[in-house]
Amino acid sequence: MAVELKNDRLLRALLRQPVDVTPIWIMRQAGRYLPEYRETRKQAGDFLTLCTTPELACKVTLQPVDRFPLDAAILFSDILTIPNAMGLGLYFVEGEGPRFERPIRTQSDVAALGVPDPETELRYVIDTVRLVRQELQGRVPLIGFAGSPWTLATYMVEGGGSKDFARTKALMFDQPALAHKLLEILADAVSAYLNAQVDAGAQTLMIFDTWGGVLTPRDYKAFSLHYMQRIVACLTREHDGRRVPIILFTRNSGASLEAIADSSCDAIGVDWTTDIGDARRRVGHAVGLQGNMDPAMLYASPDRIRDEAAVVLASYGAGSGHVFNLGHGITPDVDPDHLAVLVDAVHELSRQYH
Ligand code: CP3
Repeated sequence: MAVELKNDRLLRALLRQPVDVTPIWIMRQAGRYLPEYRETRKQAGDFLTLCTTPELACKVTLQPVDRFPLDAAILFSDILTIPNAMGLGLYFVEGEGPRFERPIRTQSDVAALGVPDPETELRYVIDTVRLVRQELQGRVPLIGFAGSPWTLATYMVEGGGSKDFARTKALMFDQPALAHKLLEILADAVSAYLNAQVDAGAQTLMIFDTWGGVLTPRDYKAFSLHYMQRIVACLTREHDGRRVPIILFTRNSGASLEAIADSSCDAIGVDWTTDIGDARRRVGHAVGLQGNMDPAMLYASPDRIRDEAAVVLASYGAGSGHVFNLGHGITPDVDPDHLAVLVDAVHELSRQYH
């Protein structure tokens, strides 16, 4: 018998069902701004060991939920687990971000890629999901996630992070068939991975398309959104008698909101460069919206943070369908007390809208 979910605001708001207050969780809520995270990471030795050790990954997943009255936990992992399982050799350079030992550049590189079996090659992630569900005891829902095929492809082709995406874009423009082949394999891998997370206990899923917004709207549809849509069509939409909402987050996607809303997802993550009230007028009849305070607002004073929370809530307006979040991940040098102010403000100030 599954443990009853005590706080289901997130799942309800994503599906535009009535809630008492607006739910809030924060992208990268388990991260370096928390002293307890830094401590556990030190104990692990490095970030990858933290991700691949279910007991430690579970521990850091729960840290933000223990500290703040957040309405969701998000699996502690990384989007680059899939390319790592494909054999690219992921490593992190301190202060510089992720790198791959064996980037994907040629037809034979793509031909050699297989779709990892989540239950074996990504077993540590699936075990973490099971462990977190057990430890949460139904306090809040657990969000599972993966990177979008396009965003994963940028890291795989560039061999790490990039400013201009020169290699990935050249591949897309000059060898579109090869780019599509790579994206197809990634879409299959992401679908299997996300469905395994649902089987293990993830109650909602989010696809992170951090770099879809560097494409023209036309290329975005063909090379990023198309593959997210294929994934959405393959995902388990109901588990344990409940709908599993799917959130698509493309950073800088203001120009494409209508197209994203047409993808059969349940909700769209919106960054802070789009007004959430405008987004609601454009697509709010079809999907829920998640976002979208500027992450840098957490550097401001508590009073200013409260005022801004009020502005974002008022912009969305009355009724359900809004999940409060930042427009992108929380940054490592934020004072955790400032996040506490935001979480309380959202719960308190949103009551009038429900
Ligand atoms: O939201 C959460 O709390 C869940 C955990 C999570 C992490 N990464 C943990 C992490 C999630 C959802 C991600 C996704 C991710 N990883 C994305 C897409 C989301 C986004 O931010 O747009 C991307 C592009 C990555 C790849 C990646 N992993 C980068 C660029 C970095 C940062 C490198 C750095 O040093 O700043 C990572 C590492 C990473 N992933 C950290 C965390 C907490 C920091 C690792 C550390 O040093 O402890």
